[in-house]
Amino acid sequence: MTTKSIRIEETKTHTVHQWDFPKLIEAHKQLSSYDYAKQKIKHGYANRSLHVNLSSGKIKEKKVTEDMKKLFVGGRGFGLKLLWDEIKPSTRWDSNENELIVTTGPLCGATQYAGSGKSICLTVSPATDIICDSNVGGFFGPFLKFSGFDALEIQGKAKEDVIVVIDGVTGKVSVETAPLEEHNSHLLAEQLTYMYAKEDTDKARQQVSVVSAGKGAENSYWGMLNFSFYDVRRKVPRVKQAGRGGLGSVLRNKHIKAIVVIAPFTKPIWQISSGQQLADVVDKKDVDLAKVDNIINKWNADSNFVIEMFQDIQETFQHIPMNALNRVADKTSVPTGQLFHIASFYKSFSLESKGETQIQVCMGTACVVRGANEVLESFERELGINAGQTTENKKFSLEKVRCLGCCGLAPVININDEVIGGVKPADVPEILQKHGFSKEGD
Ligand code: FES
Repeated sequence: MTTKSIRIEETKTHTVHQWDFPKLIEAHKQLSSYDYAKQKIKHGYANRSLHVNLSSGKIKEKKVTEDMKKLFVGGRGFGLKLLWDEIKPSTRWDSNENELIVTTGPLCGATQYAGSGKSICLTVSPATDIICDSNVGGFFGPFLKFSGFDALEIQGKAKEDVIVVIDGVTGKVSVETAPLEEHNSHLLAEQLTYMYAKEDTDKARQQVSVVSAGKGAENSYWGMLNFSFYDVRRKVPRVKQAGRGGLGSVLRNKHIKAIVVIAPFTKPIWQISSGQQLADVVDKKDVDLAKVDNIINKWNADSNFVIEMFQDIQETFQHIPMNALNRVADKTSVPTGQLFHIASFYKSFSLESKGETQIQVCMGTACVVRGANEVLESFERELGINAGQTTENKKFSLEKVRCLGCCGLAPVININDEVIGGVKPADVPEILQKHGFSKEGD
């Protein structure tokens, strides 16, 4: 949290406010906090949700599983699943176990798609005492995702007014009292945006989004939620509403004054028209271009055969490196963006170099029936990566594959071309140890 004192400048479009920020911040008391490891968004998912219980003060991460993604996709589906897991048939809107949920979908934050800034809010409604949902624009949803979470669940009730702060820059979640801040949603959004922006710049203020509800929400069953976004042109945060079902009344019933998210600066990896943005997702280590040229020449630099070129490049380097992709673009005149689509679409191509030890877990029907999901989860847990990823020290890669052709041995894995059958989740640590894995990453 910054300790700066700020006078908000007068503009033609909004009133001047002068707040004593050091005094406001000094009155905060941190009730609980949680540090989390930042990780990259993969194929639209952060692969975890954030759970905050205001009664117990416990903050934790929950894994977003492959099954959850397949069955519920995101947004409303995720929200219903998360609520289903936490509430009972007897839960009412003001029950301790009722949750206020904000969820995102896999396209959330992908600016090429209209509406992808939306997030979905769910709760047991004070208006009906059954589940309601409401969608809302603004930046909170994408910022939650960029900060490392596909969804946020808030359960329980605080004893006094608190703010929940998700700091995606430092990887910290905290619950703090905020006794002196404004109650008016517009003013509160303005205060907290200036208070939590990492610098006194428009760019930094744009990275902050605040969710709040006004005084009226405390005295009605239909209070709405206000989601802020910083309008650079007007130099003031503006708000959009999740207006249905009384979500704001639930927020205030939990004694939440605001939820603040501070997102890290992100490069738009979905925009693949420039080499610089591509560099974030494609392996940057250069490979011998003479070998790449031989492959391109073998196919007469014909743009109809770029897939065949990629197959040869993949076979030669075990992935499609950045400089090889650019070389194919140069020689065949196929746009880099189009080549990237091809290389990222087909499962048999990889844009990242693989680890020294490559582990494949068979997810064919016979293996899944015999527990392949649990085996895969055990590998993910031990290695600290998801399927499709490589450990930071580049020693281990983990991937899911289709039938390995020895279903009688299910569940089956292939580790550096050695096929092992009848694998149990409990066997995984020993298998990894045999291949030189240690939790310290040596
Ligand atoms: S389904 Fe796994 S080996 Fe056939």
